[in-house]
Amino acid sequence: MPDFTINGEKHRVDAPADMPLLWMLRDILGMTGTKFGCGIAQCGACTVHLDGVAVRSCQLPIGLVGDRAITTIEGVGATPAGAKIQKAWIDLEVIQCGYCQPGQVMSAVALLAGNPTPDDEAIDAAMAGNICRCGTYVRIREGIKHAARS
Ligand code: FES
Ligand code: FES
Repeated sequence: MPDFTINGEKHRVDAPADMPLLWMLRDILGMTGTKFGCGIAQCGACTVHLDGVAVRSCQLPIGLVGDRAITTIEGVGATPAGAKIQKAWIDLEVIQCGYCQPGQVMSAVALLAGNPTPDDEAIDAAMAGNICRCGTYVRIREGIKHAARS
């Protein structure tokens, strides 16, 4: 496989092209911030960015990543939108158990980076694929608005 660029660093990984990106991140590289939830692209826990676009890493074979830059929850705080979202999450204490939150943050950052002042409709559309068993949806929406104002 070619080198992968993850959070600005090159990684050479010896793995089959059909391995899901989530497996590579967690099991080979030990980057366990990205979570396994459903494994079938339904919950959003595994969300990462490819060139800034939110994707479900549990269903993306590494052979299809190409030369696109991968950003994970470990590195997203270095981006302007990532820093704002992470601060808002702390300010408003958005997290409950936390399991879904790396994916929530990644989806929220991708939204804010493309739309600095999202309305409720845009927030709901962008976050619809991220499930939270603790029901933090109201605080997530407020967190995104808080970040947009900062
Ligand atoms: S683990 Fe990928 S969407 Fe649920
Ligand atoms: S904070 Fe517990 S699953 Fe979302």
